[in-house]
Amino acid sequence: MDRKNILCIGAGYVGGPTMAMIACKCPQYRVTVVDINHEKIARWNSDDLPVYEPGLDEIIRATRGKNLFFETDIEKGIRESGIIFVGVNTPTKTFGAGAGKAADLQYWEKTARQIREASESRKIVVEKCTIPVKTALAMERILTSKDGDIRFDVISNPEFLAEGTAMRDLEFPDRVLIGSRETPNGIEARKAIVDIYLNWVPREKIIESNIWSSELSKLVANAFLAQRISSINAISALCEKTEADVGEVARAIGLDSRLGSKFLNASIGFGGSCFKKDILNLAYICRTYGLDDVAGYWESVVDINEYQKERFILGILNAMFNTIAGKRICLFGFAFKADTGDTRETPAYTIARRLCEEKAELVITDPKAIDNAKTDLADIGGITYEPDPYKAARGCDAIAVMTEWKLYAGLDYRQIYDSMTKPAFIFDGRNILDHKGLHEIGFNVYPIGKPPLVHFT
Ligand SMILES: NC(=O)c1ccc[n+]([C@@H]2O[C@H](COP(=O)([O-])OP(=O)(O)OC[C@H]3O[C@@H](n4cnc5c(N)ncnc54)[C@H](O)[C@@H]3O)[C@@H](O)[C@H]2O)c1
Repeated sequence: MDRKNILCIGAGYVGGPTMAMIACKCPQYRVTVVDINHEKIARWNSDDLPVYEPGLDEIIRATRGKNLFFETDIEKGIRESGIIFVGVNTPTKTFGAGAGKAADLQYWEKTARQIREASESRKIVVEKCTIPVKTALAMERILTSKDGDIRFDVISNPEFLAEGTAMRDLEFPDRVLIGSRETPNGIEARKAIVDIYLNWVPREKIIESNIWSSELSKLVANAFLAQRISSINAISALCEKTEADVGEVARAIGLDSRLGSKFLNASIGFGGSCFKKDILNLAYICRTYGLDDVAGYWESVVDINEYQKERFILGILNAMFNTIAGKRICLFGFAFKADTGDTRETPAYTIARRLCEEKAELVITDPKAIDNAKTDLADIGGITYEPDPYKAARGCDAIAVMTEWKLYAGLDYRQIYDSMTKPAFIFDGRNILDHKGLHEIGFNVYPIGKPPLVHFT
């Protein structure tokens, strides 16, 4: 097999950036990325990449056509490659058993069957997508279910990149996790994947483990990250009742070296394609093993996230005299976080829908996510989309900050205030603005987990 030919099946947020980094750091490898979505492949081959990530354009420009190729012929890619990464989507199942909880594995299973059918020589198949623990076993069974003597080794190499910082995370990862069967063949295959990363990742950051630990670690990492967000968000509700300031509480606890300061920003909640689906999947797996208490513990992390969004909406209603019907509300940001155009599971989606139910007139602005917002909210008429935040806020009764884009902290809020209907409100769902300064300008300011600054008595 040709181990210098790498294939990645799935050209999404993970497949594209990850393979671009491998191609950039490993000029001795030829990296091909394939996808069933031909339009996406065409965009990877154009100047209008399907994924926005700071630094991605430059790496694509430097490698595309040299040792990085985006193609549509999946079978040819499989035949010609010795190492096959699988980066297809694994969303939450929406039908049948486990609907709303379990991972929908139809895409990776189809991929496994495709690999089996097209392979003519030994392959190392690398699980890059996030899947339930024990998926490798199913993958092995599918790959070896055809007569023949082709050897397949399944490796787990979960991806820990965060959207918005993907290129930095890929170049300087906290760790790279590579799991395999603890057999001579499994260990030898694992070494082939370690060798790829050794081109730029220090040896001590490459962790080798058994395959089940590796699969499970990815779900657990996301569950722990999301749990921190839900923990501080739960405390933000208590802060609002007690006049404590969640920012001060987070600072005080974050200085404890056992806790650390990251992921302690109170907000309208986490979003993105992974946290919710991976926690629900973890909980589902626990339930299938009869661990109902453990499942309930993790499900509560998702429950608090939903609660936080609803709390934010009720806070808007309450502050604006219990009616927002006919009032113009501008959402600053729609992406689920800054520096990405991705809107999957964005809290802004839920909040926008709820505000429309209350008959508010919505204006949505975002530097990168307006196209996705339009698609996500296509069934709701009457929403205005405006890339310029100054124009977007003009004539509005309220601004609600949905995404922590840096640009929103640096706007001229006096100019914005002057253009708005009075009394003017700001609901800072990300706690990124200068609340005192806004209050002095004349805004009624409602942060998360901090006392509001209002002009009413
Ligand atoms: N997005 C993230 O931040 C992130 C981070 C770490 C891990 N992950 C995991 O990585 C996996 C991929 O996530 P993503 O965000 O890149 O998803 P994505 O939806 O952006 O990309 C997946 C791609 O796979 C393609 N695909 C599906 N079935 C295929 C098939 N049979 N053959 C060829 N292509 C096929 C789809 O067309 C799509 O372009 C998921 O398991 C996710 O949980 C995502």
